[in-house]
Amino acid sequence: MPRLPSYSYVCVALAFLSNFANAGPANLPGHTTPLGVVVGTAVLDGVQYLNKGLVGFGMIPSTMKDSSGDSLGGFGSALFLKRGTFKETRDGKFSGTFLARPDRGYNVDVTVDYQARQHEIDFVFSPYTGSANLSFSDAQKMLQLKYRKTTYMYDRHHRKTSGLDPTYVRNAQVGSKGNPLRDPDVPVVSKSDQRLVLDVEGLVANKDGSFWISDEYGPYIYRFSASGDLIQTIQPPNAVLPRDASGSLNFTSMSNPKTGRSPNQGFENLAFDEANGILYAMLQSATIQDGGDSKTTSRYTRLFAYDVSRPTKSVRLVGEWVVPLPQNNKNGKTYGASEMLFVSPGVFLVLSRDGDGKGSDDLSSKYKKADLFSISKATDIHNTKYDDPAHPIAVGGILNSDIRPAEYVLFVDYLDPIQLAKFGLHNGGKNDATLIASKWESLALAPVNERAYPNDHYLFTAADNDFMSRQGVSLGKPYDAGVDVDNQVFVFRVTLPSVKKGSVERFIGI
Ligand SMILES: *[C@@H]1O[C@H](CO)[C@@H](O)[C@H](O)[C@H]1NC(C)=O
Ligand SMILES: *[C@@H]1O[C@H](CO)[C@@H](O)[C@H](O)[C@H]1NC(C)=O
Repeated sequence: MPRLPSYSYVCVALAFLSNFANAGPANLPGHTTPLGVVVGTAVLDGVQYLNKGLVGFGMIPSTMKDSSGDSLGGFGSALFLKRGTFKETRDGKFSGTFLARPDRGYNVDVTVDYQARQHEIDFVFSPYTGSANLSFSDAQKMLQLKYRKTTYMYDRHHRKTSGLDPTYVRNAQVGSKGNPLRDPDVPVVSKSDQRLVLDVEGLVANKDGSFWISDEYGPYIYRFSASGDLIQTIQPPNAVLPRDASGSLNFTSMSNPKTGRSPNQGFENLAFDEANGILYAMLQSATIQDGGDSKTTSRYTRLFAYDVSRPTKSVRLVGEWVVPLPQNNKNGKTYGASEMLFVSPGVFLVLSRDGDGKGSDDLSSKYKKADLFSISKATDIHNTKYDDPAHPIAVGGILNSDIRPAEYVLFVDYLDPIQLAKFGLHNGGKNDATLIASKWESLALAPVNERAYPNDHYLFTAADNDFMSRQGVSLGKPYDAGVDVDNQVFVFRVTLPSVKKGSVERFIGI
């Protein structure tokens, strides 16, 4: 079990049981209760959430190429159900289209001039609720995935964006302070090549066809048009901006800044409360001044809320909270947050994990969970001294006593061996295609559409394979990453009683 503050330590199996006389041990996998099969529970703000286990698995082989000829790569950096596409077909199956995001290309040795892009992947999903363990080849039939097309991203003047490490700062456009459509200082390739660089990790698709994406370099939030042109940029508070010892911006991911986001620990997490027009972004782990220079002190990350209800008129920071991430109970290392989803006002799903599993040297993962947190009782620190890097929230990873963090509870365990075995998968041991992927980085929700279970949802989640393929192509050139890491996708079934009726449906346009 990870280390968590005592007030958030939740183990409700027994409390849960008392509600259902014949339920049997709630932690016993596959046990049927009046609410269906339940393999785990969590309680947050007095509401009980149920994990009904893994019900779908699919994958795209690492050898797949996109429309440019490059490896399709790790499309699971961000996932969104394309509006209006999710439907139940007559035979009890579901179909739809994922919008999916790779990050910055094949960069095991060096960063590359990879244009940011968004893939569309069609799926047909047949929920598996049987108790028998499927063979790996049968398991893959439960979620069939088919690459459809890619949209590429462009900076101002329709210049291609890049994935290269930024070595230069492009000056803010005149009037950027009062006009959300003018660029702030942004990370670019170099003085002579002033194209915007992106390392994309989060995605929200808007009704009008435009997209919000979140990135690690800035870490910034950008809006792009449906055809991939930059519309606007949100610059976070000073406390998050990477500054060197002299206070100058330096967006490199090659070394630590003096203050601000830790390299490669930017805005992994992006979520949207559509009813209120509030966009939420969260850092993967603590800023440098908040303990982010070591995994043992980086647990106190920050969540930001922006009112984007009239994005071309104004974008305002309207909230900021501290979220305590889980830590390994042996070595104290923080499990960074790779994605989050808005569940209901104040409540979020969050994917926290280690980097072990297929594609890593350590094949045995200790922690990969879609957890829950609530900010309902947490201290809002926006527009306080804490937005100034001179005032850390957690020096050396010890949280200031005047700040109450979010409440964080454990929920859906990706590593549950019984659930993995149902789909022919495993954690640790043999390094074959049935080993669970290391870097899960995305979440998306859809309704199950059963009258008896109005709060039940499918939770789709995909991994980022870091473009690891033995037959890869990067910028038109072949490469051999030494290992094939296929792109895995899971579907869990979860009961989320706090979800406002119809909100998930509206979010995915059905
Ligand atoms: C499925 O596999 C798991 C893990 O190997 C095993 O414990 C379980 O008994 C199997 N279930 C069935 C129904 O064979
Ligand atoms: C940013 O920092 C790196 C590493 O210290 C340095 O090489 C680079 O010149 C700096 N870039 C700018 C724009 O100051």
